[in-house]
Amino acid sequence: MVSVKWASSVLLLQLCCAGCGFCGKVLVWPCDMSHWLNIKVILEALAERGHEVTVLTHPHTLLIDHWNPSALKFEMVDVPFDKENAEKKNAEFQNLALNVSPLLSPWKSVIKLSDFFSGLNDDFKLFCESVIYNQTLMKKLQETNYDVMLIDPVTPCGELVAELLAVPFVITLRVSIGGNMERNCGKLPSPPSYVPVTMVGLTDKMTFLERVKNAMLLVVFNFWIQDGDFHFWRQFYSEALGRPTTLCETLAKAEIWLIQTYWDFEFPRPYLPNIEFVGGLHCKPAKPLPKEMEEFVQSSGEDGIVVFSLGSVIDNLPEEKADLIASALAQIPQKVLWKFKGKKPATLGANTRIYDWIPQNDLLGHPKTKAFITHGGMNGIYEAIYHGVPMVGVPLVNDQHDNIAHMKAKGVAVEVNLHTMTSADLLSALRTVINDPSYKENAMKLSRIHHDQPMKPLDRAVFWVEFVMRHKGAKHLRPAVHDLSWFQAHSLDVIGFLLACVAAVIIFVTKCLLFYCQQFGNTGKKKKKE
Ligand SMILES: *[C@@H]1O[C@H](CO)[C@@H](O)[C@H](O)[C@H]1NC(C)=O
Repeated sequence: MVSVKWASSVLLLQLCCAGCGFCGKVLVWPCDMSHWLNIKVILEALAERGHEVTVLTHPHTLLIDHWNPSALKFEMVDVPFDKENAEKKNAEFQNLALNVSPLLSPWKSVIKLSDFFSGLNDDFKLFCESVIYNQTLMKKLQETNYDVMLIDPVTPCGELVAELLAVPFVITLRVSIGGNMERNCGKLPSPPSYVPVTMVGLTDKMTFLERVKNAMLLVVFNFWIQDGDFHFWRQFYSEALGRPTTLCETLAKAEIWLIQTYWDFEFPRPYLPNIEFVGGLHCKPAKPLPKEMEEFVQSSGEDGIVVFSLGSVIDNLPEEKADLIASALAQIPQKVLWKFKGKKPATLGANTRIYDWIPQNDLLGHPKTKAFITHGGMNGIYEAIYHGVPMVGVPLVNDQHDNIAHMKAKGVAVEVNLHTMTSADLLSALRTVINDPSYKENAMKLSRIHHDQPMKPLDRAVFWVEFVMRHKGAKHLRPAVHDLSWFQAHSLDVIGFLLACVAAVIIFVTKCLLFYCQQFGNTGKKKKKE
């Protein structure tokens, strides 16, 4: 058995080494929670192709499952870790998502989120210091000669490690807070007239007042949020590199940005050649359900089922909210599978079952599935797009308002607000997406767009990581805007110069006219005298 496994892995290695030229070494700077579920798919695909994949992490992660056997290697970094503080932060985030954010307008919720992340900076810094100031570790990493680093910039410092090790790096990202990183560091063009600022729930079709709001938010996000966060890191990065620099400047050296969306989700917008949209790379066909679950699903008959999950982070709700939701669910003819870890609601109907964990992708891909109630996390949205399932969105925090706004604009989702909704609101939203056929039709349309691509998103992500390994970067895709200052990038210096020229011409012509008028006037007078 062992020798068969060994032989097959040797075969695989040879396959890759023959197929892609060589087997490289990949170092990964991940972000915990749902981001990990996403990047892990790329890492496993790389490992399967024979590359050596090493993940830099610490023993106290939540979803980064270094304890499970896998083809990935984990370089564990000892961090002086305060468990109590981490639990406090987690509780704070749950509170932000469930009690604070749904009460605020989306842009205020972005500011709150940014504050929350600023509060995590000390922890991020601690981890960063444990890596870059451990000379034994840095020497070991240096001597391994990595070909590429894969970085999730939501956890800062990966780009700093890449810079110190002089390894080219690829970024994977859904969206940064307010879209600041990709816009300001990645130079992703974002004309505010038709590209909505991310995370505030606007679409590409804006009224005049919405465009005013969009332009103003762009300024607020650029200067306000960026300042708080980036100021903290400016000092740290400058000290680590021994020259004045910023997080943005370091991040801007990325060879490729892998953005976790695609045109099934995004509104059409300008982008750059080193930005690749690979949304839905984790999606796969559904597998059969566990037996007990399949029986429950089959018992729904013609009516089908509804899948309900608020994601990998939120698994509890205030009691009265859970009761309200359960009583709405009890009134639909469908069977409901609800991922929920809280106390069983008193109003739970006979048609609803609660699970600690659900095989979400397999359920969404089940032919009996009629609707998906979701908080609007990107991974779940993409599974619903992949399988063509209409959604009821209950956005809480992060990019969720935006994700649901996109799905609403594409006619695939109805939104309810966790804070203000009544049982009747949820019921009516569910009935709309299940009974109005346009929702299913639009969902199937997105699904067809998603499946009809020249190259699968995962293959494209793997291709670009390997491309960077083969060519030691992708500098030929790097736009020269990175070498300009912001006023040069917006041609403000040119506009200023041209305005000055026009002003000079106007002044010159006016002066001349005045002069000739005087001359003419004088000669006229002279002539009269003669
Ligand atoms: C530095 O890294 C090495 C190698 O990973 C590790 O054995 C050592 O404990 C680390 N030192 C400190 C002070 O954390």
